[in-house]
Amino acid sequence: MKFSADEIASVIQQEIDQYDSQIDVREVGTVLEVGDGIARVHGLTGVAAGEMVEFPGNIIGLAFNLEENSVGIIILGDYLKINEGDEVRALKSLLSVPVGDAVIGRVIDPLGNPLDGKGPINSDETRPVEVIAPGVAERRGVHEPMQTGIKAVDAMTPVGRGQRELIIGDRKTGKTAIAIDAIINQKDTGVKCFYVAVGQKDSSVAGVIGVLEEAGAMDYTTVIVSGASAPSPLQYIAPYAGTAMAEHFMWQGQHCLIVYDDLSKQAVAYRECSTVTAGCWNARPNSTTNSVAARSPHCRSSKPSKARSRPTFQPT
Ligand SMILES: Nc1ncnc2c1ncn2[C@@H]1O[C@H](COP(=O)(O)OP(=O)(O)OP(=O)(O)O)[C@@H](O)[C@H]1O
Ligand SMILES: [Mg+2]
Repeated sequence: MKFSADEIASVIQQEIDQYDSQIDVREVGTVLEVGDGIARVHGLTGVAAGEMVEFPGNIIGLAFNLEENSVGIIILGDYLKINEGDEVRALKSLLSVPVGDAVIGRVIDPLGNPLDGKGPINSDETRPVEVIAPGVAERRGVHEPMQTGIKAVDAMTPVGRGQRELIIGDRKTGKTAIAIDAIINQKDTGVKCFYVAVGQKDSSVAGVIGVLEEAGAMDYTTVIVSGASAPSPLQYIAPYAGTAMAEHFMWQGQHCLIVYDDLSKQAVAYRECSTVTAGCWNARPNSTTNSVAARSPHCRSSKPSKARSRPTFQPT
């Protein structure tokens, strides 16, 4: 077999022309200490607050507390698998969740991973979880009701679109039932619904999904689940993830109803994460879209009432 020198030269020339070196530069740090869902990492000097980082085993973390020599990371996964000295890589993107029609009808975790076994979420669009909410002056006045379908509520304490409403009641008094009825009542109204289950038992969430499916409400509803067994940081960010998904539709001029069930469990998760509070999370859940936030009273009052009362509505 003969080789022509010209041919070889042209092939080499072609390879040289097509050579495109891509150096993947990433910032890498080292875990100094880890515990209770929080890691302190040294070396991530250029990381931004709210930026995602990756631990070994594809465990995602969120840069939270930026200090001079270390960064506090909340671990959005199983922190027991992370050890001192492990490598941490900055992912150069803020914590985002998939948004759009692909999430409608799905049951997902707060990071957008499917939990319903119906395959991956095929969405091209994502939206950052941490966004500054529009100020009061930028918002339109509340001028249109959001019908819950419960006559007593719609007549006496109507919920307006753009408004948030807190449902307070003792345990097992029907707070979740009111919220689920409100979601079911949005059928054929064009309102997209998001049910964020924080710290609930899996069996309770499965029951809610069953009711929504039976009523045909899953056609326009997304269920975001961060159950009682999920790490505290995931329970903490769940309402923000649901809000980001709803805000995608809100900015398209569509109407959404978000239910946070329940915020007392999210508050407990927040306290568990608060060793690294940097004050970078604003009070954004239920700020710009309609919501009926279910909240149990047992975490609010040091002296819970012994008598079971009916759920009451209170603007928040
Ligand atoms: N209007 C109603 N009439 C009769 N039963 C109801 C009504 N509303 C809810 N229930 C029943 O009461 C029980 C508790 O309801 P639900 O789970 O909604 O309460 P909850 O206040 O959300 O409880 P938790 O504090 O555990 O979250 C359920 O079995 C539900 O079916
Ligand atoms: Mg409930």
